[in-house]
Parts: sequence; structure tokens; C-alpha cells
Amino acid sequence: MKTLLLLILTVWLNIESSSGTLSSSCSYAPSKWCSSLDSAIQCGVLKQCLEANFTRSHQKEDRIEVGLYYESLCPGCRGFFTEMLFPTWILLQEIMTVNLVPYGNAQEKPDGQKYKYECQHGETECLGNMIETCLMNMTDYSGLIIFCMESSPDVIKSAQSCLEIYDPKLTWDSVMSCVKGDQGNQLMHQNALETGALKPPHQYVPWITINGEHTEDLQNKAMSSLFTLVCGMYKGTKPEACGGAKRHYKSYCHNE
Ligand SMILES: *[C@@H]1O[C@H](CO)[C@@H](O)[C@H](O)[C@H]1NC(C)=O
Ligand SMILES: *[C@@H]1O[C@H](CO)[C@@H](O)[C@H](O)[C@H]1NC(C)=O
Repeated sequence: MKTLLLLILTVWLNIESSSGTLSSSCSYAPSKWCSSLDSAIQCGVLKQCLEANFTRSHQKEDRIEVGLYYESLCPGCRGFFTEMLFPTWILLQEIMTVNLVPYGNAQEKPDGQKYKYECQHGETECLGNMIETCLMNMTDYSGLIIFCMESSPDVIKSAQSCLEIYDPKLTWDSVMSCVKGDQGNQLMHQNALETGALKPPHQYVPWITINGEHTEDLQNKAMSSLFTLVCGMYKGTKPEACGGAKRHYKSYCHNE
């Protein structure tokens, strides 16, 4: 498949280089040059656009996947999520993806067609896990909303206002009908299966996986600087944030 793609690219590139003079008839604003094949050809930038697109899609495949197996009310999980994972993701989202699995040390028991859950920090934690699970299924802004909840003094009480800030179109009622209904119950079962399938099995939370793998070394590195770990493991062209991080902190305000 990759070879075929490269072959097609090569053919296009040859067409493009033999018709480079077309650039004089470019009628697109620079921001639109790469928006379609036609505009790229017309503006004489096909090669650059294809390269840019190729790098982007290539980067997507190589992204570092950080898995976090956690519980909504566990203090260590909240700390890692809000002080380490979220800030790292803000800086490195082009090279990393995050897989949040709120379940941790919870237990499930079959109950007719559904499941009953017991959580380490009680029913409130089960509710927090369920709200976060439903949010991940219902909105593209779940990362921001969960960050907002986990960094608030009260994870549960803040949920509705966090939702209203980051995704005002999604109603709290629809989230609650997922939380109380079959949808949430089934989604939580998926979390239970995913957590149960961990190899090695988790012994504590937060339990971190990097590209699906957990070792003590990866866990320790992620806990002390996830940012350094992700930048270091990323095989593609490193984003500026990775190399330039030190420079950013080199300015001081002096007391005169
Ligand atoms: C680049 O990618 C965008 C989005 O995937 C696509 O719409 C566009 O046609 C691509 N441009 C070229 C020149 O292939
Ligand atoms: C939401 O959950 C359903 C299964 O209940 C699944 O089919 C669907 O892909 C999920 N959507 C997202 C965005 O995760």
C-alpha cells in the first residue's frame, strides 16, 4: 500500500515539475494552496503540499499513545492527570494521543443484562468514572471537560459547569441519560474489559502504558517527566516544543 502511494506521488511530482510554469495562473489565497490537488497544481506547489500532507499522515501513524488507567477520585490519578498528562498533551498533541480508561480498581458483577459496579472510593467515584466515560463517547472536548472536573475541588459537582464551558451545545440531561442508562453501562463494561486485559495486570493506579506497554521504567519516567519521555520516544521529526523547551524558560525578570 505504501509503495503504491509513493508510486502515485512520484508520478504526480513528475507531472508537476513539467508544468511548473502554471504558477502564474494561481487564483487561490496562499492559505488555500494545499486545500485541493487542483489548487496545488495551479499554484505550482503540488510537491510541497504532498510533502506536507505526507509528513502529517506519517506523523499520525507514529504518534506515541499514552494510556492512563485511573479512577476519577484517586488523588494520585488526579495529580498525574492535571499536572503531567494534560499539560504535556497541550504541548505535544501533534505527536501523542491519549487513551483514558476510568475504571482502575473497580469491580463489576453481572446483573441481568447489565453490570453492577463497585468503586474503590465509593459510589461517588463510580459516578465520576461514568460521567467521564460518557463524555468521551459524546463530545470531542472530553479532554478539556475532564481536566476541568479533575482540577476542581469537587470532581462531581463541577461536571455540569465544566460541560457548559467547553461544550455548551451538549446538554447535561443527555450526558445523564447516558450515565444512568444502558449506553453508560455498556461503555463501562468496555473499560472493565480493557483494564482486565492489561499485561501485566495493573497493581495500582494511575497505571500508565506507552504504546500499549507497561514497565516499571516507563511508569517511573512518565511520572517524573512524561514530556521528556514522549519527546525522546517519538521517532518522527520532533516538534519545536521538544527541542525549544529549554529556551522558553531562559528569560528572567530582574529586580532593578
Ligand atoms: C492535503 O490533505 C488535505 C486534507 O487531508 C486534502 O483535502 C488535500 O486535498 C490534500 N492536498 C493535496 C495536494 O494532496
Ligand atoms: C460510543 O459508543 C458506541 C457504543 O456504545 C460506539 O459504537 C461509538 O463508536 C462510540 N462513539 C465514540 C465517539 O466513541
